[in-house]
Amino acid sequence: MNEHVSIPVPAPMAEPAEVAATRKVFIKTYGCQMNVYDSTRMGDALASDGYETTETMEDADLILLNTCHIREKAADKVYSALGRLRDMKKARAAEGRELMIGVAGCVAQAEGEEIVRRAPAVDVVIGPQTYHRLPDALRRARGGKPVVETDYALEDKFDHLPATAKAAIRSRGVTAFLTVQEGCDKFCTFCVVPYTRGSEVSRTVAQIVAEAQRLADSGVREITLLGQNVNAWRAQGPDGRVWSLGDLLYHLAQTPGLARLRYTTSHPRDMDDRLIEAHRDLRTLMPYLHLPVQAGSDRILKAMNRRHTAAEYLRLIERIRAARPDIAISGDFIVGFPGETEEDFADTMRLVEAVGYAQAFSFKYSTRPGTPGADLPDHVSEEVKAERLERLQALLLKQQTDFAKSCVGKVIDLLLEKPGRMPGQVIGRSPWLQSVNVDAKTSQIGDIIPVRIIGTGPNSLFAEPAERLIKV
Ligand code: SAH
Ligand code: SF4
Ligand code: F3S
Repeated sequence: MNEHVSIPVPAPMAEPAEVAATRKVFIKTYGCQMNVYDSTRMGDALASDGYETTETMEDADLILLNTCHIREKAADKVYSALGRLRDMKKARAAEGRELMIGVAGCVAQAEGEEIVRRAPAVDVVIGPQTYHRLPDALRRARGGKPVVETDYALEDKFDHLPATAKAAIRSRGVTAFLTVQEGCDKFCTFCVVPYTRGSEVSRTVAQIVAEAQRLADSGVREITLLGQNVNAWRAQGPDGRVWSLGDLLYHLAQTPGLARLRYTTSHPRDMDDRLIEAHRDLRTLMPYLHLPVQAGSDRILKAMNRRHTAAEYLRLIERIRAARPDIAISGDFIVGFPGETEEDFADTMRLVEAVGYAQAFSFKYSTRPGTPGADLPDHVSEEVKAERLERLQALLLKQQTDFAKSCVGKVIDLLLEKPGRMPGQVIGRSPWLQSVNVDAKTSQIGDIIPVRIIGTGPNSLFAEPAERLIKV
Protein backbone atom coordinates (compact mmCIF):
# COMPACT_ATOMS: atom_id res chain seq x y z
CA MET A 1 0.00 0.00 0.00
CA ASN A 2 1.15 3.47 -0.72
CA GLU A 3 1.42 5.49 2.44
CA HIS A 4 1.63 8.78 0.54
CA VAL A 5 -2.09 8.94 -0.09
CA SER A 6 -3.44 12.12 1.43
CA ILE A 7 -6.82 12.76 -0.04
CA PRO A 8 -9.19 15.34 1.42
CA VAL A 9 -12.50 13.71 2.24
CA PRO A 10 -15.17 15.31 0.10
CA ALA A 11 -18.19 16.74 1.87
CA PRO A 12 -21.10 14.33 2.24
CA MET A 13 -24.37 15.20 0.55
CA ALA A 14 -27.24 16.92 2.40
CA GLU A 15 -28.13 15.34 5.72
CA PRO A 16 -31.58 14.14 6.72
CA ALA A 17 -33.75 17.09 7.74
CA GLU A 18 -34.14 16.05 11.38
CA VAL A 19 -30.38 16.39 12.00
CA ALA A 20 -29.43 20.02 12.06
CA ALA A 21 -25.83 20.32 10.81
CA THR A 22 -24.37 22.97 13.05
CA ARG A 23 -20.75 21.94 13.54
CA LYS A 24 -18.03 21.35 11.01
CA VAL A 25 -15.27 18.78 10.89
CA PHE A 26 -12.05 18.90 8.88
CA ILE A 27 -10.44 15.50 8.40
CA LYS A 28 -6.80 15.22 7.36
CA THR A 29 -5.84 11.77 6.12
CA TYR A 30 -2.33 10.35 6.28
CA GLY A 31 -1.22 6.86 5.33
CA CYS A 32 -2.75 4.14 3.22
CA GLN A 33 -6.03 3.71 1.37
CA MET A 34 -7.46 2.02 4.44
CA ASN A 35 -7.20 5.34 6.23
CA VAL A 36 -8.83 7.10 3.29
CA TYR A 37 -11.76 4.72 3.61
CA ASP A 38 -11.86 5.13 7.39
CA SER A 39 -11.89 8.93 7.07
CA THR A 40 -14.95 8.68 4.87
CA ARG A 41 -16.65 6.41 7.40
CA MET A 42 -15.73 8.74 10.27
CA GLY A 43 -17.22 11.60 8.27
CA ASP A 44 -20.39 9.48 7.94
CA ALA A 45 -20.50 8.69 11.67
CA LEU A 46 -20.07 12.38 12.48
CA ALA A 47 -22.63 13.45 9.87
CA SER A 48 -25.29 11.47 11.71
CA ASP A 49 -24.29 13.42 14.81
CA GLY A 50 -24.81 16.81 13.20
CA TYR A 51 -21.34 17.46 11.77
CA GLU A 52 -20.80 18.70 8.27
CA THR A 53 -17.49 17.98 6.53
CA THR A 54 -15.47 21.03 5.52
CA GLU A 55 -12.38 21.34 3.40
CA THR A 56 -11.17 24.49 5.11
CA MET A 57 -9.44 24.14 8.43
CA GLU A 58 -10.43 27.66 9.50
CA ASP A 59 -14.15 26.77 9.29
CA ALA A 60 -13.79 23.66 11.40
CA ASP A 61 -15.04 23.18 14.96
CA LEU A 62 -13.33 19.80 15.02
CA ILE A 63 -10.04 18.90 13.35
CA LEU A 64 -9.39 15.21 13.05
CA LEU A 65 -6.01 13.80 12.04
CA ASN A 66 -6.29 10.25 10.72
CA THR A 67 -2.71 9.15 11.20
CA CYS A 68 -0.13 6.65 9.96
CA HIS A 69 2.60 4.96 12.00
CA ILE A 70 4.32 2.94 9.30
CA ARG A 71 7.62 4.84 9.30
CA GLU A 72 9.18 7.22 11.77
CA LYS A 73 8.66 10.19 9.46
CA ALA A 74 4.95 9.42 9.15
CA ALA A 75 4.53 9.50 12.94
CA ASP A 76 6.69 12.65 13.31
CA LYS A 77 4.41 14.51 10.91
CA VAL A 78 1.53 14.05 13.33
CA TYR A 79 3.32 15.71 16.24
CA SER A 80 4.39 18.66 14.15
CA ALA A 81 0.82 19.07 12.90
CA LEU A 82 -0.40 18.91 16.51
CA GLY A 83 2.01 21.70 17.45
CA ARG A 84 0.41 23.96 14.83
CA LEU A 85 -3.08 22.97 15.95
CA ARG A 86 -2.28 23.83 19.57
CA ASP A 87 -1.51 27.40 18.47
CA MET A 88 -4.69 27.52 16.44
CA LYS A 89 -6.72 26.30 19.40
CA LYS A 90 -5.20 29.02 21.61
CA ALA A 91 -5.99 31.73 19.07
CA ARG A 92 -9.55 30.43 18.83
CA ALA A 93 -9.97 30.37 22.60
CA ALA A 94 -8.95 34.05 22.67
CA GLU A 95 -11.86 34.73 20.28
CA GLY A 96 -14.21 32.63 22.45
CA ARG A 97 -14.56 30.00 19.72
CA GLU A 98 -14.21 26.29 20.35
CA LEU A 99 -11.80 24.06 18.48
CA MET A 100 -11.68 20.37 19.28
CA ILE A 101 -8.77 18.24 18.14
CA GLY A 102 -8.96 14.50 17.52
CA VAL A 103 -6.25 11.99 16.64
CA ALA A 104 -7.43 8.82 14.93
CA GLY A 105 -5.71 6.01 13.06
CA CYS A 106 -2.51 4.07 13.63
CA VAL A 107 -0.54 6.62 15.69
CA ALA A 108 -3.58 6.85 17.98
CA GLN A 109 -3.56 3.09 18.37
CA ALA A 110 0.19 2.81 18.86
CA GLU A 111 0.70 5.75 21.23
CA GLY A 112 -2.66 6.12 23.00
CA GLU A 113 -2.32 8.15 26.24
CA GLU A 114 1.19 9.24 25.22
CA ILE A 115 -0.40 11.57 22.64
CA VAL A 116 -2.30 13.61 25.26
CA ARG A 117 0.82 13.72 27.41
CA ARG A 118 2.92 15.08 24.56
CA ALA A 119 0.13 17.19 23.04
CA PRO A 120 -2.31 18.27 25.76
CA ALA A 121 -4.38 20.27 23.25
CA VAL A 122 -5.76 16.96 21.95
CA ASP A 123 -9.33 16.23 23.09
CA VAL A 124 -9.88 12.77 21.67
CA VAL A 125 -7.61 9.88 20.71
CA ILE A 126 -9.42 7.14 18.88
CA GLY A 127 -7.99 3.91 17.43
CA PRO A 128 -8.92 2.50 14.03
CA GLN A 129 -11.13 -0.19 15.57
CA THR A 130 -13.31 2.22 17.51
CA TYR A 131 -14.18 5.10 15.23
CA HIS A 132 -17.91 4.32 15.48
CA ARG A 133 -17.59 5.52 19.09
CA LEU A 134 -16.28 8.90 17.96
CA PRO A 135 -19.48 10.95 18.47
CA ASP A 136 -19.78 9.62 22.01
CA ALA A 137 -16.08 10.23 22.74
CA LEU A 138 -16.44 13.85 21.58
CA ARG A 139 -19.42 14.39 23.86
CA ARG A 140 -17.46 13.05 26.81
CA ALA A 141 -14.41 15.14 25.93
CA ARG A 142 -16.57 18.29 26.11
CA GLY A 143 -16.58 17.64 29.83
CA GLY A 144 -13.01 18.96 29.78
CA LYS A 145 -10.91 15.80 30.09
CA PRO A 146 -9.31 14.22 27.03
CA VAL A 147 -10.81 10.87 26.05
CA VAL A 148 -8.59 8.01 24.84
CA GLU A 149 -10.41 5.14 23.12
CA THR A 150 -7.95 2.58 21.82
CA ASP A 151 -9.35 -0.75 23.03
CA TYR A 152 -9.94 -3.32 20.39
CA ALA A 153 -13.72 -3.14 20.33
CA LEU A 154 -15.48 -6.45 20.62
CA GLU A 155 -18.37 -5.17 18.55
CA ASP A 156 -18.00 -4.76 14.82
CA LYS A 157 -17.33 -1.15 13.98
CA PHE A 158 -19.02 -1.58 10.62
CA ASP A 159 -22.18 -2.93 12.21
CA HIS A 160 -22.21 -0.24 14.83
CA LEU A 161 -22.24 2.72 12.54
CA PRO A 162 -25.50 4.57 13.20
CA ALA A 163 -28.22 3.71 10.69
CA THR A 164 -28.04 7.16 9.14
CA ALA A 165 -24.31 6.72 8.62
CA LYS A 166 -24.89 3.38 6.90
CA ALA A 167 -27.49 4.95 4.67
CA ALA A 168 -24.93 7.65 3.98
CA ILE A 169 -22.59 5.17 2.26
CA ARG A 170 -22.93 6.65 -1.16
CA SER A 171 -21.21 8.06 -4.11
CA ARG A 172 -18.50 10.65 -3.83
CA GLY A 173 -17.33 10.03 -7.33
CA VAL A 174 -17.12 7.24 -9.84
CA THR A 175 -14.47 5.25 -7.98
CA ALA A 176 -14.63 4.11 -4.37
CA PHE A 177 -12.80 2.06 -1.76
CA LEU A 178 -14.54 -0.71 0.13
CA THR A 179 -12.78 -2.29 3.12
CA VAL A 180 -13.35 -6.05 3.16
CA GLN A 181 -10.59 -7.14 5.51
CA GLU A 182 -8.63 -5.52 8.28
CA GLY A 183 -5.65 -6.32 10.38
CA CYS A 184 -2.70 -8.57 9.84
CA ASP A 185 -1.44 -11.86 11.28
CA LYS A 186 1.74 -11.98 9.21
CA PHE A 187 4.10 -10.15 11.56
CA CYS A 188 6.76 -9.12 9.08
CA THR A 189 9.57 -8.13 11.41
CA PHE A 190 9.79 -4.52 10.18
CA CYS A 191 6.09 -3.70 10.36
CA VAL A 192 3.78 -2.04 12.90
CA VAL A 193 0.50 -2.92 11.21
CA PRO A 194 -0.22 -6.11 13.21
CA TYR A 195 0.09 -3.98 16.35
CA THR A 196 -1.89 -0.96 15.17
CA ARG A 197 -4.62 -2.77 13.27
CA GLY A 198 -4.89 -5.98 15.26
CA SER A 199 -5.41 -9.48 13.91
CA GLU A 200 -7.03 -10.36 10.61
CA VAL A 201 -10.79 -9.85 10.47
CA SER A 202 -12.95 -10.34 7.38
CA ARG A 203 -16.28 -8.64 6.81
CA THR A 204 -19.19 -10.86 5.80
CA VAL A 205 -20.27 -11.44 2.22
CA ALA A 206 -23.65 -9.87 2.99
CA GLN A 207 -22.08 -6.66 4.34
CA ILE A 208 -19.73 -6.37 1.38
CA VAL A 209 -22.35 -7.10 -1.25
CA ALA A 210 -24.78 -4.59 0.30
CA GLU A 211 -22.12 -1.88 0.42
CA ALA A 212 -20.98 -2.59 -3.14
CA GLN A 213 -24.57 -2.38 -4.36
CA ARG A 214 -25.16 0.89 -2.50
CA LEU A 215 -22.03 2.34 -4.05
CA ALA A 216 -22.97 1.15 -7.54
CA ASP A 217 -26.51 2.50 -7.12
CA SER A 218 -25.09 5.91 -6.33
CA GLY A 219 -22.97 6.05 -9.45
CA VAL A 220 -19.72 4.30 -8.55
CA ARG A 221 -18.31 2.40 -11.55
CA GLU A 222 -15.08 1.09 -10.04
CA ILE A 223 -14.59 -0.37 -6.56
CA THR A 224 -11.24 -1.18 -4.98
CA LEU A 225 -11.56 -3.79 -2.27
CA LEU A 226 -9.23 -2.93 0.59
CA GLY A 227 -7.43 -4.89 3.25
CA GLN A 228 -3.99 -4.85 4.86
CA ASN A 229 -3.92 -8.41 3.56
CA VAL A 230 -6.86 -8.28 1.25
CA ASN A 231 -6.23 -11.69 -0.26
CA ALA A 232 -6.36 -13.30 3.19
CA TRP A 233 -10.08 -12.40 3.20
CA ARG A 234 -12.17 -15.48 4.02
CA ALA A 235 -15.87 -15.74 4.90
CA GLN A 236 -18.75 -18.10 4.50
CA GLY A 237 -20.48 -17.70 1.15
CA PRO A 238 -24.23 -17.97 0.54
CA ASP A 239 -23.57 -21.55 -0.68
CA GLY A 240 -22.27 -22.54 2.75
CA ARG A 241 -18.65 -22.93 1.55
CA VAL A 242 -15.80 -20.81 2.88
CA TRP A 243 -15.11 -18.25 0.18
CA SER A 244 -11.73 -16.76 -0.60
CA LEU A 245 -11.16 -13.39 -2.27
CA GLY A 246 -11.36 -15.01 -5.72
CA ASP A 247 -14.88 -16.30 -4.99
CA LEU A 248 -15.89 -12.88 -3.71
CA LEU A 249 -14.64 -11.22 -6.90
CA TYR A 250 -16.64 -13.62 -9.12
CA HIS A 251 -19.70 -12.73 -7.05
CA LEU A 252 -19.14 -8.95 -7.01
CA ALA A 253 -18.50 -8.95 -10.76
CA GLN A 254 -22.28 -9.52 -11.09
CA THR A 255 -23.14 -6.26 -9.28
CA PRO A 256 -25.46 -4.28 -11.58
CA GLY A 257 -23.90 -0.98 -12.61
CA LEU A 258 -20.39 -1.89 -11.53
CA ALA A 259 -17.85 -1.94 -14.36
CA ARG A 260 -14.51 -2.43 -12.65
CA LEU A 261 -13.04 -4.19 -9.66
CA ARG A 262 -9.60 -3.93 -8.06
CA TYR A 263 -8.14 -5.05 -4.76
CA THR A 264 -5.16 -4.07 -2.65
CA THR A 265 -2.86 -4.98 -0.83
CA SER A 266 -2.02 -8.61 -1.38
CA HIS A 267 0.54 -10.84 0.25
CA PRO A 268 2.31 -13.33 -2.05
CA ARG A 269 1.53 -16.16 0.38
CA ASP A 270 -2.21 -15.65 -0.06
CA MET A 271 -2.37 -15.56 -3.89
CA ASP A 272 -4.39 -18.74 -4.28
CA ASP A 273 -5.51 -20.51 -7.47
CA ARG A 274 -9.03 -19.11 -7.32
CA LEU A 275 -7.72 -15.55 -7.29
CA ILE A 276 -5.46 -16.25 -10.25
CA GLU A 277 -8.44 -17.81 -12.07
CA ALA A 278 -10.44 -14.66 -11.37
CA HIS A 279 -7.75 -12.68 -13.20
CA ARG A 280 -8.04 -15.11 -16.10
CA ASP A 281 -11.86 -15.09 -16.28
CA LEU A 282 -13.19 -11.74 -15.15
CA ARG A 283 -13.00 -8.80 -17.53
CA THR A 284 -14.39 -6.70 -14.68
CA LEU A 285 -11.26 -7.42 -12.66
CA MET A 286 -8.65 -4.92 -13.82
CA PRO A 287 -5.28 -6.25 -15.01
CA TYR A 288 -3.27 -4.67 -12.22
CA LEU A 289 -1.81 -6.30 -9.16
CA HIS A 290 0.03 -4.70 -6.27
CA LEU A 291 2.11 -7.55 -4.91
CA PRO A 292 4.81 -6.29 -2.53
CA VAL A 293 7.95 -8.39 -2.22
CA GLN A 294 10.13 -6.01 -0.11
CA ALA A 295 13.47 -7.63 -1.00
CA GLY A 296 15.09 -10.05 -3.41
CA SER A 297 17.50 -11.84 -1.10
CA ASP A 298 16.27 -15.04 0.52
CA ARG A 299 18.32 -14.33 3.61
CA ILE A 300 16.66 -10.94 4.06
CA LEU A 301 13.21 -12.27 3.16
CA LYS A 302 13.65 -14.82 5.92
CA ALA A 303 14.80 -12.20 8.42
CA MET A 304 11.77 -10.12 7.43
CA ASN A 305 9.53 -13.14 8.08
CA ARG A 306 7.97 -12.83 4.64
CA ARG A 307 7.74 -16.63 4.48
CA HIS A 308 8.57 -17.07 0.81
CA THR A 309 11.71 -17.05 -1.32
CA ALA A 310 12.57 -14.85 -4.28
CA ALA A 311 12.18 -17.85 -6.62
CA GLU A 312 8.70 -18.56 -5.24
CA TYR A 313 7.69 -14.97 -5.85
CA LEU A 314 9.01 -15.07 -9.42
CA ARG A 315 7.20 -18.34 -10.09
CA LEU A 316 3.99 -16.82 -8.75
CA ILE A 317 4.33 -13.80 -11.05
CA GLU A 318 4.83 -16.23 -13.96
CA ARG A 319 1.60 -18.07 -13.12
CA ILE A 320 -0.34 -14.81 -12.79
CA ARG A 321 1.01 -13.59 -16.13
CA ALA A 322 0.12 -16.89 -17.77
CA ALA A 323 -3.47 -16.36 -16.57
CA ARG A 324 -3.63 -12.69 -17.52
CA PRO A 325 -0.82 -11.75 -19.91
CA ASP A 326 -1.55 -8.00 -19.92
CA ILE A 327 -1.42 -7.67 -16.12
CA ALA A 328 0.67 -4.81 -14.72
CA ILE A 329 2.60 -5.68 -11.59
CA SER A 330 3.32 -3.17 -8.86
CA GLY A 331 5.37 -3.65 -5.71
CA ASP A 332 6.76 -2.30 -2.46
CA PHE A 333 10.44 -2.47 -1.49
CA ILE A 334 12.45 -1.80 1.62
CA VAL A 335 16.19 -1.12 1.36
CA GLY A 336 18.62 -1.33 4.25
CA PHE A 337 16.82 -3.85 6.42
CA PRO A 338 19.19 -4.80 9.30
CA GLY A 339 21.95 -7.07 8.03
CA GLU A 340 21.38 -6.24 4.33
CA THR A 341 24.71 -6.51 2.50
CA GLU A 342 25.63 -5.16 -0.91
CA GLU A 343 25.14 -8.71 -2.24
CA ASP A 344 21.64 -8.91 -0.72
CA PHE A 345 20.78 -5.59 -2.30
CA ALA A 346 22.09 -6.83 -5.66
CA ASP A 347 19.56 -9.68 -5.33
CA THR A 348 16.78 -7.09 -4.98
CA MET A 349 17.97 -5.34 -8.13
CA ARG A 350 18.07 -8.69 -9.95
CA LEU A 351 14.53 -9.52 -8.85
CA VAL A 352 13.31 -6.14 -10.08
CA GLU A 353 15.01 -6.75 -13.44
CA ALA A 354 13.37 -10.15 -13.65
CA VAL A 355 9.84 -8.93 -12.87
CA GLY A 356 9.64 -5.60 -14.70
CA TYR A 357 7.36 -3.44 -12.56
CA ALA A 358 4.78 -1.06 -14.00
CA GLN A 359 4.67 0.86 -10.72
CA ALA A 360 6.47 0.62 -7.39
CA PHE A 361 6.95 2.20 -3.98
CA SER A 362 10.29 1.93 -2.26
CA PHE A 363 11.42 2.99 1.17
CA LYS A 364 14.45 3.15 3.41
CA TYR A 365 14.02 0.77 6.33
CA SER A 366 12.70 2.72 9.31
CA THR A 367 13.19 1.22 12.76
CA ARG A 368 9.85 0.84 14.50
CA PRO A 369 10.04 0.45 18.27
CA GLY A 370 8.39 -2.76 19.45
CA THR A 371 8.88 -4.67 16.19
CA PRO A 372 11.36 -7.59 16.10
CA GLY A 373 13.41 -5.82 13.41
CA ALA A 374 14.31 -3.07 15.86
CA ASP A 375 16.29 -5.57 17.98
CA LEU A 376 18.25 -7.12 15.11
CA PRO A 377 21.99 -6.53 14.88
CA ASP A 378 23.81 -4.82 11.99
CA HIS A 379 21.57 -1.87 11.28
CA VAL A 380 22.51 -0.25 7.99
CA SER A 381 23.71 3.36 8.01
CA GLU A 382 21.47 6.13 6.66
CA GLU A 383 24.05 6.93 3.94
CA VAL A 384 24.08 3.37 2.63
CA LYS A 385 20.28 3.20 2.76
CA ALA A 386 20.00 6.46 0.84
CA GLU A 387 22.48 5.35 -1.77
CA ARG A 388 20.75 1.98 -2.30
CA LEU A 389 17.35 3.62 -2.46
CA GLU A 390 18.61 5.94 -5.15
CA ARG A 391 19.87 3.05 -7.29
CA LEU A 392 16.67 1.07 -6.79
CA GLN A 393 14.44 4.03 -7.56
CA ALA A 394 16.36 4.81 -10.74
CA LEU A 395 15.74 1.27 -11.97
CA LEU A 396 12.06 1.29 -10.92
CA LEU A 397 11.52 4.68 -12.55
CA LYS A 398 13.03 3.39 -15.77
CA GLN A 399 10.68 0.39 -15.71
CA GLN A 400 7.71 2.63 -15.00
CA THR A 401 8.62 4.93 -17.88
CA ASP A 402 9.17 1.97 -20.21
CA PHE A 403 5.77 0.64 -19.26
CA ALA A 404 4.08 3.99 -19.90
CA LYS A 405 5.85 4.28 -23.28
CA SER A 406 4.73 0.77 -24.22
CA CYS A 407 1.13 1.98 -23.89
CA VAL A 408 1.54 4.63 -26.61
CA GLY A 409 -0.45 3.69 -29.71
CA LYS A 410 -2.77 1.34 -27.82
CA VAL A 411 -6.53 1.73 -27.76
CA ILE A 412 -7.76 1.23 -24.22
CA ASP A 413 -10.94 1.56 -22.18
CA LEU A 414 -10.81 4.69 -20.09
CA LEU A 415 -13.06 5.33 -17.09
CA LEU A 416 -13.68 9.08 -17.07
CA GLU A 417 -13.23 10.22 -13.49
CA LYS A 418 -12.93 13.97 -13.00
CA PRO A 419 -12.46 17.28 -14.80
CA GLY A 420 -8.94 17.86 -16.10
CA ARG A 421 -6.79 20.89 -15.46
CA MET A 422 -7.60 22.40 -18.86
CA PRO A 423 -11.20 23.17 -19.82
CA GLY A 424 -12.49 20.55 -22.24
CA GLN A 425 -10.27 17.89 -20.69
CA VAL A 426 -11.24 15.02 -18.45
CA ILE A 427 -8.93 12.77 -16.42
CA GLY A 428 -9.63 9.09 -16.58
CA ARG A 429 -8.11 5.92 -15.30
CA SER A 430 -6.64 3.21 -17.50
CA PRO A 431 -7.08 -0.49 -16.68
CA TRP A 432 -3.48 -0.29 -15.39
CA LEU A 433 -4.31 2.48 -12.92
CA GLN A 434 -2.61 5.24 -14.91
CA SER A 435 -4.09 8.75 -15.02
CA VAL A 436 -4.97 9.64 -18.59
CA ASN A 437 -5.90 13.09 -19.94
CA VAL A 438 -8.34 13.19 -22.82
CA ASP A 439 -10.60 15.71 -24.55
CA ALA A 440 -14.09 14.94 -23.31
CA LYS A 441 -17.11 16.58 -21.73
CA THR A 442 -17.53 16.59 -17.96
CA SER A 443 -21.04 15.23 -18.59
CA GLN A 444 -19.28 12.03 -19.71
CA ILE A 445 -17.73 11.46 -16.26
CA GLY A 446 -18.61 7.92 -15.23
CA ASP A 447 -18.54 6.66 -18.82
CA ILE A 448 -15.99 4.19 -20.07
CA ILE A 449 -14.81 5.23 -23.51
CA PRO A 450 -12.24 3.88 -25.95
CA VAL A 451 -9.21 6.15 -26.29
CA ARG A 452 -5.89 5.95 -28.10
CA ILE A 453 -2.81 6.71 -25.99
CA ILE A 454 -0.77 9.31 -27.84
CA GLY A 455 1.86 10.43 -25.35
CA THR A 456 3.34 10.24 -21.88
CA GLY A 457 3.91 12.87 -19.20
CA PRO A 458 5.76 12.59 -15.87
CA ASN A 459 2.80 11.10 -13.96
CA SER A 460 0.13 10.66 -16.56
CA LEU A 461 -0.66 9.75 -20.15
CA PHE A 462 -2.32 11.69 -22.95
CA ALA A 463 -4.99 10.21 -25.17
CA GLU A 464 -7.46 11.02 -27.91
CA PRO A 465 -10.95 9.57 -28.27
CA ALA A 466 -10.85 6.49 -30.48
CA GLU A 467 -13.20 4.14 -32.22
CA ARG A 468 -13.59 0.91 -30.36
CA LEU A 469 -11.39 -1.72 -31.96
CA ILE A 470 -13.56 -4.54 -33.11
CA LYS A 471 -11.70 -7.80 -32.90
CA VAL A 472 -12.43 -10.18 -35.79
N1 SAH B 1 0.16 -5.15 4.01
C1 SAH B 1 1.00 -4.63 3.04
C2 SAH B 1 1.89 -3.50 3.46
C3 SAH B 1 1.41 -2.42 4.31
S1 SAH B 1 2.62 -1.24 4.71
C4 SAH B 1 1.91 -5.73 2.59
O1 SAH B 1 2.11 -6.70 3.25
O2 SAH B 1 2.46 -5.58 1.55
C5 SAH B 1 3.09 -0.57 3.13
C6 SAH B 1 4.53 -0.70 2.82
O3 SAH B 1 5.29 0.09 3.71
C7 SAH B 1 5.11 -2.09 2.96
O4 SAH B 1 4.85 -2.90 1.87
C8 SAH B 1 6.58 -1.80 3.14
O5 SAH B 1 7.24 -1.74 1.90
C9 SAH B 1 6.59 -0.43 3.78
N2 SAH B 1 7.00 -0.51 5.18
C10 SAH B 1 6.36 -1.11 6.20
N3 SAH B 1 7.07 -1.00 7.34
C11 SAH B 1 8.20 -0.32 7.04
C12 SAH B 1 9.34 0.09 7.80
N4 SAH B 1 9.47 -0.20 9.07
N5 SAH B 1 10.30 0.79 7.14
C13 SAH B 1 10.19 1.06 5.83
N6 SAH B 1 9.14 0.70 5.08
C14 SAH B 1 8.15 0.01 5.66
FE1 SF4 C 1 2.91 -5.42 7.58
FE2 SF4 C 1 3.73 -7.74 6.66
FE3 SF4 C 1 1.26 -7.48 7.57
FE4 SF4 C 1 1.95 -6.31 5.30
S1 SF4 C 1 1.90 -8.51 5.69
S2 SF4 C 1 0.80 -5.40 6.95
S3 SF4 C 1 4.05 -5.72 5.68
S4 SF4 C 1 3.12 -7.34 8.76
FE1 F3S D 1 -0.11 3.62 7.99
FE2 F3S D 1 -1.82 2.35 9.48
FE3 F3S D 1 -2.08 2.29 6.86
S1 F3S D 1 0.34 2.50 9.85
S2 F3S D 1 0.03 2.44 6.17
S3 F3S D 1 -2.26 4.06 8.13
S4 F3S D 1 -2.49 0.64 8.28
